[in-house]
Amino acid sequence: MPLEIVRNDITKMKVDAIVNAANSSLLGGGGVDGAIHRAAGDGLLAECRKLGGCKTGEAKITGAYRLSAKYVIHTVGPVYVDGRSNERELLESCYRNSLAMAKKKGCKTVAFPLISSGVYGYPKDQALKVAVDVIGDFLLGNEMTVYIVIFDKASFMIGEKLFSDIAQYIDDNYAEEHTDHCRERMRMNRAMPFASEALDSAPMPCQCPMPPEDELSAKLKRMDESFSQMLLRKIDEKGMTDAQCYKKANIDRKLFSKIRSDVNYKPSKPTAIAFAISLELSLTETEDMLKKAGFALSRSNKFDIIIEYFISRGIYDVFEINKALFAFDQSLLGA
Ligand code: AR6
Repeated sequence: MPLEIVRNDITKMKVDAIVNAANSSLLGGGGVDGAIHRAAGDGLLAECRKLGGCKTGEAKITGAYRLSAKYVIHTVGPVYVDGRSNERELLESCYRNSLAMAKKKGCKTVAFPLISSGVYGYPKDQALKVAVDVIGDFLLGNEMTVYIVIFDKASFMIGEKLFSDIAQYIDDNYAEEHTDHCRERMRMNRAMPFASEALDSAPMPCQCPMPPEDELSAKLKRMDESFSQMLLRKIDEKGMTDAQCYKKANIDRKLFSKIRSDVNYKPSKPTAIAFAISLELSLTETEDMLKKAGFALSRSNKFDIIIEYFISRGIYDVFEINKALFAFDQSLLGA
């Protein structure tokens, strides 16, 4: 998956490069910087001494010594003052410069800590947003797997209002089964024939509109459509390119190629939903697409209710949704 958010100690990540949230001396410090230097050993400090420091927003690269990565990219985040002192721009350039450095060295996998969000005081939720935005942009034009490594759960809290809205939505909808009104009415007519007589009415005909014939035959044709066929049809209908679709879904190219070339491919549920989000499908269309892969959205599953919350509000940002899923301890989309 191109962008993964994981909870871990960054020194344990098996990637080509890990990024260090350093200070401008590059001579080590506390927090993640201290952890990286301790795990890498003295060789790292010796090489850092030769670099002549680093300006805020810039990045420099060294070997990784005892770490399992090939490189450490050192970048210096801004100290957070008041949010109006160029902090965002500087933080963005930390990510951009580090990614450019990783690309230049041919790295395929890179892990970032949440730069500036510790000693330097950048509010964690905003620091995460900057990371996701810049990395997301970069991945639109580059093939790389990037991890944002979260050390403590507090870094990943979504806004209080959003959190309580979702919690309320889960409360209101949990296990409250969806009612098919036509079926319900037929069931009532069967169960209580006298009740309808008493109301002096014959069993009510179903009021659901009948689709015209050509619409019906199109529908019947679509019943045989596989997940992969439906996905490709929707991509065309939405006027998207394949790459736009799988990137927005946070799905990697190899997985997309597999789905594209295997007409009967059965994706995992998070993958199928990630595509539905990327295509900005309505709830009904999402259900259709999930059905093709053998799944359904259920009201007795928190993950599904959170997905429903976002789709019903027209919010189709996979990373925003993933943040909320993470906050509610659910698995993430696209994984
Ligand atoms: N793995 C992943 N993330 C970590 C780890 C770890 N092992 N340890 C801490 N974090 P900070 P900054 C998270 O303070 O704010 C140093 O002294 C931590 O929870 O390390 O950019 C430097 O020398 C937080 O979310 O970096 C500088 O002087 C994030 O990493 C200064 O701190 C960043 O916290 C840089 O401050």
